[in-house]
Amino acid sequence: MNFHVLTLFPEMILQGLNTSIIGRAMAKGIITLEAVNIRDYTIDKHKKVDDYPYGGGAGMLMQAQPVFDAWKAVVDQISLRGRSKQKPRVIYVTPQGERFHQSMAKDFAKEDDLIFLCGHYEGIDERVLEEIVTDYVSIGDYVLTGGELPAMVMVDAIARMVPGVLSNKASGETESFSNYLLEYPQYSRPEVWHEKKVPQVLLSGDHKKIEEWRLEQSLSRTKEKRNDLYEKWVEENQEYFIKKAKREERQRKKELKKRSTAKSEQLVK
Ligand code: ADE
Repeated sequence: MNFHVLTLFPEMILQGLNTSIIGRAMAKGIITLEAVNIRDYTIDKHKKVDDYPYGGGAGMLMQAQPVFDAWKAVVDQISLRGRSKQKPRVIYVTPQGERFHQSMAKDFAKEDDLIFLCGHYEGIDERVLEEIVTDYVSIGDYVLTGGELPAMVMVDAIARMVPGVLSNKASGETESFSNYLLEYPQYSRPEVWHEKKVPQVLLSGDHKKIEEWRLEQSLSRTKEKRNDLYEKWVEENQEYFIKKAKREERQRKKELKKRSTAKSEQLVK
C-alpha cells in the first residue's frame, strides 16, 4: 500500500509517521509514504501557492494550479509504474467531509495507492477540488489549522489495517470498533500493584472462562461509555443474549436441584 500526501509541510508528515509500528512497516516495505511538497509545483516565481479569495473575505486560499500539478505528478508516477489502471482515490481532509470511522479505514486499506490532500489557510480553490477529489473526509467536528494532522491520523488507522503491518495478524480485526465493542481491561505483571489484584479469572488458565469474562467486560464498558455502539452490537448479536439467558436458566436449575438434594439429605439425617 502506497500513501502519497500532498502538503505544504512534508517534514511534518514524514517525521510524524516514521516511528513505531508504521515506521517499522515502512522499513519492511509493506507500506510506503511519500510527502509531496505542493510548493515545489507552483509556477509563481516567488514560490507563492496562495492568493486572496474572489468576492473578499478573511484569509487566503490555496490556488488550483500548484495543487493540480502536484496531484498530476503523483498520478503520472503511479501509472508509469503500472501499479493501477484506475486513478487512485484522492482524500481531501476537511471538516466538511464525512466523519472518518473504522470501517472507512478498512475500506481504504484495500487500495494500492491513496492520495491525501492537506489544505491550509482558508481552504483550496473549489475548481481543483472538483477535478481531483474523490472522497471528502473529516476526523471530527472541530477545526484544525491544517490537514496534516487529520491526514496522519487517517494514514495511521488505514496502515494498521493493511495485512502484515501489525505483528499479530488478527489484532487489527478483533479490537475496538471492528465489532462495535470497546476493549476489555488488560493487566500485566506484577500480580498485585498498589494493592490492586489482577482479576482471578485471568490467572485461572481456563480460556473459555477468560473469553467470556472479557466479552462481558467489553459489553459493560461499551454500554457505559458508548451506548450508541452497544446498541448496534446488541442489534447484530441477539443470539448471544438468547444463549446467555439459556445458560443462566440451566445454571439456576442446577443450583435449585443442588439445594433441594442437600435439604432432603439433611432431612434423612
Ligand atoms: N482540516 C481542518 N480540520 C479538520 C478536521 N476536523 N478533519 C479533517 N480535516 C481538517
